[in-house]
Amino acid sequence: MNNDLHKPLQRFEDLRGILRYVPQFRQRVFVIAFDGALMTQPGFASILQDVAVLQSLNIEVVLVFGARAQIRALAAARGVTLTNDDGMGRTDATGIEIATDAIMRQASELVANLTALEMPVAVTNALAVHPAGVIEGVDLEYTGRIERVDQETLRALLKADIIPILPPLGYDGKGTTLRLNSDAVAVEVAIELKAAKVIFVAESGLTGPDGSRLAQISLAGAREMYKQKASGQDVSMLSKLRYAALACQEGVPRVHIVDGTQDEALLAELFSNEGVGTMIHGDEYQQIRKAQPSDVPDLLFMMQQSVDDAALLPRSRDQIQSTIEDFFLLELDGHPIGSVAVHAYEEEGVKVAELACLFVRRSHKNKDHGRKLVAFAEETARQRGCDIIFALSTQAFRFFEEKMGYIVSGPDALPPSRRAKYDASGRNSKVLTKTLK
Ligand SMILES: CC(C)(COP(=O)(O)OP(=O)(O)OC[C@H]1O[C@@H](n2cnc3c(N)ncnc32)[C@H](O)[C@@H]1OP(=O)(O)O)[C@@H](O)C(=O)NCCC(=O)NCCS
Repeated sequence: MNNDLHKPLQRFEDLRGILRYVPQFRQRVFVIAFDGALMTQPGFASILQDVAVLQSLNIEVVLVFGARAQIRALAAARGVTLTNDDGMGRTDATGIEIATDAIMRQASELVANLTALEMPVAVTNALAVHPAGVIEGVDLEYTGRIERVDQETLRALLKADIIPILPPLGYDGKGTTLRLNSDAVAVEVAIELKAAKVIFVAESGLTGPDGSRLAQISLAGAREMYKQKASGQDVSMLSKLRYAALACQEGVPRVHIVDGTQDEALLAELFSNEGVGTMIHGDEYQQIRKAQPSDVPDLLFMMQQSVDDAALLPRSRDQIQSTIEDFFLLELDGHPIGSVAVHAYEEEGVKVAELACLFVRRSHKNKDHGRKLVAFAEETARQRGCDIIFALSTQAFRFFEEKMGYIVSGPDALPPSRRAKYDASGRNSKVLTKTLK
């Protein structure tokens, strides 16, 4: 096992990138669940090192592991045919014996590896479990269902900087060992601990029908993919989609699925804007909020791309600072991904509003964020007593016309003071107006 914890932080810009996220994640719980198959791969050492990095940033990590690959291998070695290997279907007496042997061996290996990284860990029995019972006429025998999570034990371990490890096994009041699905364990624990994230480190990433990575899907999207048994997704991925949707529904803000065979996937997903895996989000975690003076660097940084493309007028730090009251930020999971400004004019007894600085980060385009920001700006203008809103645009005028119902007017539609600036700028932007009802 390689003890070089500093490997993922070799580049200074990486370190800066990571540090931006640290305050919001400090003392928050991340439940990390990895597929058992990854444990046999050379890259597994890096996954554990990434976990060590998270812990060193004061993130409270809970580890859950899957065991399908190990159970299959052990069954094959013993010449046994399994009734089920993923903890969802029926587990017979032979199956639970094999699962227990394989899982306990994995737990031991994991403790050994983490101890070598000087991470204190404890394999815990923090779940109250019952037999899953008879489902659709089939007695699931030694397959269990999670009844309760022992929050106190887990919290006590986390408080003492000990990483709890939860194997996909449970024990009922009668002393029976039951097989659990590891995705279900991860999600039940995350819900109970009000975790900030569940991260499924899988054997592959989640891809769309064309084979490209799905960077983000909503709770509804994940549920739909699970229900439709989306083509190309194996049972392991479908189980992740199912439990990801449950986690989001029960208040876990973010679930990530990353391809654990990619180097540094865990850190890259968590600490970069674009990510490398799939983020599943409960829709309500988007918000548009008033910008603060401390947001000026973010606003400047975000808008730079459009300024370079000449889609937005360059604005200085001072210009934004002096009108910061007019700016709004669209945040996803606490990160700004878009902006809009509403400037109100009252001239010659007429109140009109200007919608300006509309911007959505390239990585988040075509997800209705632009529409939401425009609708929000219009509502703000209405509340400020304006009957008309206008926008100046060189490249997005069709967006305003076709998607938002604006009409192309001439510069005469501008209030006099704005008209003077318009003429002086020489940008020849289209003037778009909309009557607010
Ligand atoms: C214009 C902008 C805000 C749209 O953001 P967005 O979050 O992608 O927009 P939405 O997801 O709500 O809407 C996307 C729809 O608008 C269309 N659209 C986006 N930009 C467009 C443009 N410049 N011209 C015409 N249509 C456009 C898309 O094709 C898409 O159409 P659909 O109905 O087929 O899905 C974004 O592209 C942007 O930041 N552009 C650069 C800055 C800019 O030009 N700002 C306006 C000056 S005030």
